[in-house]
Amino acid sequence: MHIVNRLRARFSRPPLQTLSSLEAYERWVATYPPRAHNPLMEAEQRAMLDLLPSLDGQIVLDLASGTGRYGILAEGDGARQVVEIDNSAAMLRANPLSYRAQATSEALPLKSKSVDVVLCALALGHLPRLEPSMREIARVLKRDGIALISDFHPFLCLNGARRTFTTEGQTYAVEHYPHLYGDYHRAAINVGLRIEQVAEPRLEAQPEVPLVIVFRLRKAD
Ligand SMILES: C[S@@+](CC[C@H](N)C(=O)[O-])C[C@H]1O[C@@H](n2cnc3c(N)ncnc32)[C@H](O)[C@@H]1O
Repeated sequence: MHIVNRLRARFSRPPLQTLSSLEAYERWVATYPPRAHNPLMEAEQRAMLDLLPSLDGQIVLDLASGTGRYGILAEGDGARQVVEIDNSAAMLRANPLSYRAQATSEALPLKSKSVDVVLCALALGHLPRLEPSMREIARVLKRDGIALISDFHPFLCLNGARRTFTTEGQTYAVEHYPHLYGDYHRAAINVGLRIEQVAEPRLEAQPEVPLVIVFRLRKAD
């Protein structure tokens, strides 16, 4: 069954227990490898890599890093320093990179204007408000720095899809707040980021519904 229908089908079953992001990743971490491990992540990663600037010699923040998928790619791409930040201690313990810190995206333990590139994948939808995290991304970026932000496409979520995972025979939903393009646009303007490019990849097999939304933003001042 196609991923969109699978996600919809899950939604139409009896209500699932919804976990906070912190609770969810405590339970999910054992089956969350640091690589794209489903078709949605594969489509998302292709779009992210299409929009990625060269990381050679750059200081990269992998924000909401999870187990390190993008940090590992950034190291492989020649980044000078990769910083992994996530608010889940469990995900960070499973992250193989050495420079890690537990913190929320809404209060980053980094100096202003200290980072060349921020990569923030599939995470901001766990937060009800975009702007506090985007303000922190803008603060830590150097002038002309680039941020790539991806998330589940809001159309997918507004069509009834939910973020779920299964562990020990039990399926859970994870808290998620769909943010529309206009929400990103407004937050970007308010914090001094300029949207340079947007990608909304779909699967060939089911082209009518985009799976993810990916933004490339530049620090405006
Ligand atoms: C779907 S996972 C994505 C992990 C990684 N970015 C990737 O794409 O493989 C979402 C991650 O966001 C983290 N997260 C959720 N809310 C966060 C917050 N407020 N601050 C930092 N990390 C957060 C979760 O702990 C989890 O590791």
